[in-house]
Amino acid sequence: MWGTALASWDPEAPLHPNAEFGLQFLVAVTCSQPTIQCDGRPQCYGKSVSLLPRLPGSYLVMELANRCSLACVHCAVADESHPHFDATGYMDVEMAEDLFSDLAAHGISFDTLILFWLGEPLLHPEFPRIWQAAIRSAGAHGTFAKVELHSNATHLNSRFTAALLNESHIPQVLHFSLDATDRDRYLDVKGVDRYDTVVSNIENFLTEKARIGARWPRPVFQFIVGSNNVEQVPAFQQQWTEACASRGLPVQTVAGHVPHGEDAVVFFRQLDCPTKEEQSAENAVFRSAMTKLDVSIPPEAVNGEVVAGDNHSVCAGFWKSPVVSWDGAVTTCTRDSHLLNQVGSLSDTPFSTLWFNESMRRRRAAVAKGDYSDLSVCQSCFIPRSLNYTGITAEEVRSWDSSP
Ligand SMILES: C[S@@+](CC[C@H](N)C(=O)[O-])C[C@H]1O[C@@H](n2cnc3c(N)ncnc32)[C@H](O)[C@@H]1O
Ligand code: SF4
Repeated sequence: MWGTALASWDPEAPLHPNAEFGLQFLVAVTCSQPTIQCDGRPQCYGKSVSLLPRLPGSYLVMELANRCSLACVHCAVADESHPHFDATGYMDVEMAEDLFSDLAAHGISFDTLILFWLGEPLLHPEFPRIWQAAIRSAGAHGTFAKVELHSNATHLNSRFTAALLNESHIPQVLHFSLDATDRDRYLDVKGVDRYDTVVSNIENFLTEKARIGARWPRPVFQFIVGSNNVEQVPAFQQQWTEACASRGLPVQTVAGHVPHGEDAVVFFRQLDCPTKEEQSAENAVFRSAMTKLDVSIPPEAVNGEVVAGDNHSVCAGFWKSPVVSWDGAVTTCTRDSHLLNQVGSLSDTPFSTLWFNESMRRRRAAVAKGDYSDLSVCQSCFIPRSLNYTGITAEEVRSWDSSP
């Protein structure tokens, strides 16, 4: 077990007045009752007040940085002409802390906090401060049941490793996006020659995790299976299974979804494609590779086998998965990199107002009927039928509608 003498930070530390938390955090833990009305809803300056159900599979995405150290061929970041990258930057730390405070004060919670979108989160110069604030907010207010980070590990230095490792009661998962098992293929898939650096950084992380016996984060060695790397699947499994086993870290191999647990995971994931034709072809590559490896695919994968083009299903994004870009723009889906569904910005309006405003109410009412006539980006989306998607039931929509 992790000795306190080895801890570099305490994830269970109370939210005391200190430099790590903004003013709203302090206010949030010193009062206890709703005090005023704001935008028709109670504005609570007290401890968590549960106003809304936490929907199963819900997640909040926060883009800490939209810059990247790599240029993976399958990623929107590789498209330099994409308007999402016309301006680049890092999320303001106070914006992040204010968001955690706003969620806590309004009793808004998500199953998972996802600390990345289109960029490399470890490029954020103050990454440790945001990571630790997120975990403390989750622990103190129940704001998130789990915290998830994906990184390419190019900047996973010893300072970040020390800041990451902890023994909170909040589960945390760290995906290492690798996608290759040698330098040449890494360069082909990831666009930059960093294979040796990332392998060394991750091995150092594993060594340190094993040395101090830190419970979290759980490492996930991720390989996005595509026709450009599929034959490296067995070698990848062997490489990272051995890296864990040699350090005494339990490890398993899974496909499609990472199950609950604490052991390390070698994870094979389906490629998301821009067109339904490509998606169908890559779904077949994925299924065949997993069958050869004798790793089962979750039953939901069947939903992605036949990909249709017209979207009339009820998309969970409008209820379950708000996305905040590095500059504070809030939208409804990670596919909306052009921010066509943007509902506003945290730079001038709190999340608790934006996510429940009249525009979102109208959109949810339309989407609940499969009506995307005002939502052009959604009209041809096929994600609601693929593996990489969280669904929503009619009962969940009703529970939301009937909440205060
Ligand atoms: C956009 S990256 C940002 C975080 C970080 N830079 C990384 O690579 O992990 C977030 C996740 O999306 C995955 N990803 C990117 N493009 C994808 C695609 N076309 N299909 C499936 N996953 C993809 C990456 O492998 C990574 O796990
Ligand atoms: S490292 Fe992550 S953000 Fe960067 S290009 Fe690759 S998948 Fe995209």
